[in-house]
Amino acid sequence: MDTKEAIKKRRSVRSYNSKDIPDKIILDIIDCARMAPTARGEEPWEFILLKDKEILKQIAKITEKNAPFLSEASACIVVVCRDTKYYLEDGCAATENILISASDYKLGTCWVAGDKKEYAQDVMRILKVPDGFKLVSLVSMGYAQYPVASKNRRPLKEIVHRDQF
Ligand SMILES: Cc1cc2nc3c(=O)[nH]c(=O)nc-3n(C[C@H](O)[C@H](O)[C@H](O)COP(=O)(O)O)c2cc1C
Repeated sequence: MDTKEAIKKRRSVRSYNSKDIPDKIILDIIDCARMAPTARGEEPWEFILLKDKEILKQIAKITEKNAPFLSEASACIVVVCRDTKYYLEDGCAATENILISASDYKLGTCWVAGDKKEYAQDVMRILKVPDGFKLVSLVSMGYAQYPVASKNRRPLKEIVHRDQF
């Protein structure tokens, strides 16, 4: 799949089959994440490759309103960043690289909110993240249980402004 196709075809997937995702694939996806742009070259990110079913269930429980499907995911990549000035932008750029590269592997993903969420501290406690870090996102991952519908986005002509808004 080329980059443009991976971007245009990606959809959030919240229902997965039980097939395992080889670590080699997940590590390559994380390798893509760390290639994201990073303000001032700080690379504040760390990635937790989460596959342990018990921990996934624990996190699904505390993020229940946002991500009950985490308990069924084959894996989750948790993005945490040192609390730098641009941690959120950097962490989000890395997260998007995760979604796109996973889409290239025909994996379904869903970006689950981390920053500003009331469960952020609890998630980081369960994952033993040291002090001084922010939870940016949790990306649930698995092979899609059902085919995903195509996107319905606001049309280009409505959102593009030439020269002035
Ligand atoms: C910052 C951010 C936080 C999100 N948080 C959640 C979440 O907590 N739970 C969830 O199911 N989806 C979450 N999403 C996914 C969006 O709901 C999804 O991207 C949106 O509905 C558009 O659908 P698409 O990803 O299929 O294009 C989040 C997306 C972003 C960018």
